Order: sequence, then structure tokens, then C-alpha cells
Amino acid sequence: MTALDETPTELDTVTTTHPTSHAKLIAWVDEMAALTTPDRIHWITGTPEEHQALLDELVAAGTFTKLDKKPNSYWCASDPTDVARVEDRTFICSVDEEDAGPTNNWMDPGEMRVIMRDLYRGSMKGRTMYVIPFVMGHLDAEKPMFGVEITDSPYVVVSMNVMARTGTKVLEALGTDADFVPAMHSIGAPLEPGQADVAWPCNDTKYIVQFPESREIQSFGSGYGGNALLGKKCYSLRIASVMARDEGWLAEHMLILKLTSPQGTVNYIAAAFPSACGKTNLAMLEPTIPGWKVETLGDDIAWMRFGKDGRLYATNPENGLFGVAPGTGWDTNPNAMRAIDAGGSVFTNVALTDDGDVWWEGMTPEAPAHLTDWKGRDWTPDSTEPSSHPNSRFCTPIRNCPILAEEYDDPQGVPISAILFGGRRKTTIPLVTESRDWTHGTFMGATLSSETTAAAVGAVGVVRRDPMAMLPFIGYNAGDYFQHWINVGKDADSTKLPKIFYVNWFRRDAEDGSFLWPGFGENGRVLKWVVERLEGTAAAVETPIGHVPAPGSLDVDGLDVSAEQLEKALAVDPEEWKAEVPLIQEWFDKIGDKTPTTLLTELDGLKARLGL
Ligand code: GDP
Ligand code: PGA
Ligand code: MN
Ligand code: MN
Repeated sequence: MTALDETPTELDTVTTTHPTSHAKLIAWVDEMAALTTPDRIHWITGTPEEHQALLDELVAAGTFTKLDKKPNSYWCASDPTDVARVEDRTFICSVDEEDAGPTNNWMDPGEMRVIMRDLYRGSMKGRTMYVIPFVMGHLDAEKPMFGVEITDSPYVVVSMNVMARTGTKVLEALGTDADFVPAMHSIGAPLEPGQADVAWPCNDTKYIVQFPESREIQSFGSGYGGNALLGKKCYSLRIASVMARDEGWLAEHMLILKLTSPQGTVNYIAAAFPSACGKTNLAMLEPTIPGWKVETLGDDIAWMRFGKDGRLYATNPENGLFGVAPGTGWDTNPNAMRAIDAGGSVFTNVALTDDGDVWWEGMTPEAPAHLTDWKGRDWTPDSTEPSSHPNSRFCTPIRNCPILAEEYDDPQGVPISAILFGGRRKTTIPLVTESRDWTHGTFMGATLSSETTAAAVGAVGVVRRDPMAMLPFIGYNAGDYFQHWINVGKDADSTKLPKIFYVNWFRRDAEDGSFLWPGFGENGRVLKWVVERLEGTAAAVETPIGHVPAPGSLDVDGLDVSAEQLEKALAVDPEEWKAEVPLIQEWFDKIGDKTPTTLLTELDGLKARLGL
């Protein structure tokens, strides 16, 4: 018998009636229940009592450990094989293969539906099926973006309660016939009568499937965030990017921040960096330069639509932060530390301290003398492996963020004046480059490259093209996606479009391998230069790749960086760029016929300027 069965709670009710009269929703839930045969069905209401009952149940099941040192917060360790997004198991099942494009895995939707039905058959046996009505973005948005996730994982439920707006208020807003994205999830670990459960049930077979035409999601086998919290990557990026293409807006892997200058001028900036490349940190920046202030609107996803005034307005569809733990500390990201200290957090795959707190590499300069590592083993500073998985995460309500901008509550969003693209590159890419115009900026985004990180299963540190930091998230053909970006610019008033910049906090000294730029709070200096470029007050020099800061135009007052190091961080090295060009060419060859000719023209221009 499992703890679930031993301790009947208010959650143990079998629902035979549906708390809605939405016919399509009822039919889908009934069909999924008949297929997966759960012992119980529970419609999530979203009350604090229900949330607490789920947390208590997760503690009783041995999945969660309640932390003594943080208010209402929990530690959790996943199965060691279920720690990150699985890009090779992620599919875009468009009707035509060409619509998935050369960057996505594709399978015929009919074939995939058969596979998924077979996997789901009986997969919730012995478990509770939770039905989570949710909305991405605001419930009072002009067109609320509804979804309903079905899952057999209480971990997913409590995480979705943090990351999205969930429960009865959403179900009521759905009414009897509003559109919603059906998002089906099962960990794929049925329990036979009497079979003991494990702390993190999951399945070796994993599928993360999007059906773009019918706007459906089906996920199997994993409990990890990006694979299982289906409102996040699956809906707000993969499905939403298809909606955005069809409706003329943008669904992007971007943070949103509000930057106020010492003179009180406000600019809103969006920035796309690949997973684990600095979005959460930049979104919560504490600038080191006096008088500059950053406030947070979002740290992972931006939906951008044109307003009546012709400007591009961004909203954050999420309600929580799902941040990379390692490297997050009082020195690097004090606002994230304050957010997680405020309570209501779930920590996954970090280390546990002996006094009931969490720790991870980079939180404090010195490690505690003894920890329980993410695999449940004793850990000391002499241990050979890190205490926390490199992709360990904190999941925290966004309201905990002490510098949350008040505009976060505005369903209209904020007008963006600059977009930054960035990646993790040891070489070649300078600290900051300004594009000449929207098309050139689109070229920068489309050719963005970054070293792979632990946020996805697979090799780490391999340079790959990650267009607009969206490689794993574009729900359609990448060539069409580039054309969509071009079209957005063509249709707009160019004077009102955001200016596009390319940044790299991760360039390294060829001699000793150290970071050339100190990063974190010092990145405020780059934001200052960006704003001064918007205002036309900072000087720049033209290079083959775009405009870079003229000597002296980047504020380095009080910065502990040598002139030589700074020069290396800002350098545009023609030899490095000559080596980069064939990689860009190869990338466009891979995209094939759908590569917009405007981008090929941009590449020709770059070659010519490099003398190639
Ligand atoms: P996200 O996944 O894009 O949101 O990235 P995070 O902000 O969580 O950062 C991922 C990792 O990169 C963390 O370990 C950070 O400490 C590290 N990081 C973030 N910003 C910087 C920076 O400016 N410089 C350096 N060197 N590391 C950074
Ligand atoms: P990240 O979010 O971008 O903050 O790492 C999770 C992910 O992209 O997998
Ligand atoms: Mn992300
Ligand atoms: Mn993040």
C-alpha cells in the first residue's frame, strides 16, 4: 500500500460529475480517463487548502522534504535520469513534414496518436488523474490563452499552481465553449494493487509531442519541468509560436525587464538567451552603476503584439520563476535569493543541508561541511561530484520577486524599445553589437550560436546555432519562422520597432580561460550603452558585423577590468569571423529553400565586408 492509499484526504474523492458544462472539455477528460484508467479523478480548484493537501501528500509519499529554514518550501530529488528537457524525444507532428522543418523531430500525426494512445493505455492505474484548468497570461486579457492539463503527477500540479494561473476561476472563465489547448501528461508509471511507489516515478520511454494544427500537446514519461509543466515550453512557446505566426505576433524565449535611468527615463527591454545562458539573472539585475534601476516583468517567455500606437508590447505569460539554481547566489543574483527566501518554493535536484535548508554550487563562496546531495548521498567539500545537478531548479511564485515591476499586472504589456539576442560563446562574439536595422537584427538572431548547457539532455559545451534562442521551441519550420520575423518588421513603422542588439557575457581569455567580462550586475553597463544608443548619445564604431561601442563610450567607471581585457571583450576579430562565416553558411544550407533571401543577402554583405 502506498501512503496515498493509507491516508485518505480530501483529494481522494472519485469525481463522477464534472464541475463544468464545457462539453468539449468533459468529452476529452472522460476519454482520457477511460484510456488511462486512474483510480481517482480530481479537478484542481486552486484553493490554498488543496495546494497544501497536495504538498502534504508529496511529503507523505517521500517525494518532498519540507524545509525547516524556508517558509512553506520543499526539497525534491528526481530520478537521476529525469533531469532536463529531452530534445531528441520532442516532436512537432504537423500534417506535412515540411511544416516541422529541418530543426524539429517530426512524425506523422496519425502514427504518433497511435503510439501515444498505446502508451497512455492504463498508464494512470493506481494513481489520481488531476485536471488542471490554467491560463497563460492574464485571465482578463482581451483573449485569454486557456489550457487544461491532465496529469497523474502531484509534483506537476503543485508546480503548475506556481507557474500559471490555475483552478476554478479559470474553469469558470472557460464557460461552456471557450477554446483551450488540451495538454495531456502522464509520467507513465502505473501502480499494480499493492505495488510500492517510488519517490519520483517516471518512464524510460519519453515523448513530448506538439500537434501544431490542432493546438494539442501530449507528453509521456517525464516529470521534469520543461517536459511536464505543459503551459511553459510546450504551450507558451511551441504551440504559441504557431498561433503567433498565424495571427501576426511573436511568442519568444525572452525575459522582459524595465530599466530606469538616473534621470527617470524608462525603457523596456526583452532579451533572448538560450536555456541556462543568463535570462533569469539579467531579468533581476542589480546594476552596479549608480542611479540605474532594473525591475522584472518576466524571466523566460515573452509574448509580443503590436499595440494601436504601432509599438511592440510584451507580456509574460507565466506566473512563476523556474530558475537554474547553481550559480544563483547573493553576489550574483541577490533578488533571486530574496525571491526564494520568501517561501512557497519547490527545489528540485539541489542539495539539502543538515538543518533543513538548500544549497548548491555558487550559492555561497564556501560549501557547508556536510550535505545530502541531489542523489541522496552524504556530501562533503571533498566529494568529487557537485552536490547539485547542473540543471537543478527553483520554482517560485513571481510575486516573491522583490523587484517585480507593477506593469506585470497589466494585460496590455509594456512597449519594448530594445531586443537583445545573446549566447554563450568563448570566442568571436563581442560583448555588445548593435544591428543596423530590423532585418540585420533578424540576421543576428537567426544566426545566434551558443554552447549547449545542462538544461537539455546531451553533450554540454558544444557550439550550435540556436536561432533567437528558440531552436528547441519553434513549433514550425525555422525558415518560415525567420520569414515571419522579417514580415513583422516589414509591416511595422520602422521608427517604432525595437532596436536589436547582440550580446555575449561569456567570452573568455584565450590565455587563461577566464571570463573577459565580469557579468551579472556589471551587465547594467551594457544596458546603459544600449539605452544611450536608443537616445543617440553614445558613440559607436561601424565594423563588418555591426556597431560596437566606440572607445570610451561604455561606462567602465569603477570597473575592475584592465583596458587590455576590455579590449578583448569588445573586439571584432576578422579572423574569428572568417571562421564563423562557413558555419553560418552551413546553417542556412540546413534551413534550405525556406531561408529568406533577405538573410542570404545579409550574409553576402557580411562576407563582402570581411573581404571574403
Ligand atoms: P537562464 O536559464 O537563461 O534563465 O539563465 P540563468 O540566469 O539562470 O543563468 C544560467 C547560468 O549562467 C547560471 O549558473 C548563472 O550563474 C550564469 N550566468 C548568468 N549570467 C551570467 C553572466 O553575466 N556571466 C557569467 N559568467 N555567468 C552568468
Ligand atoms: P531557462 O528555462 O531558459 O530558464 O533555462 C528552462 C528551459 O529553457 O529549459
Ligand atoms: Mn527557458
Ligand atoms: Mn531562467
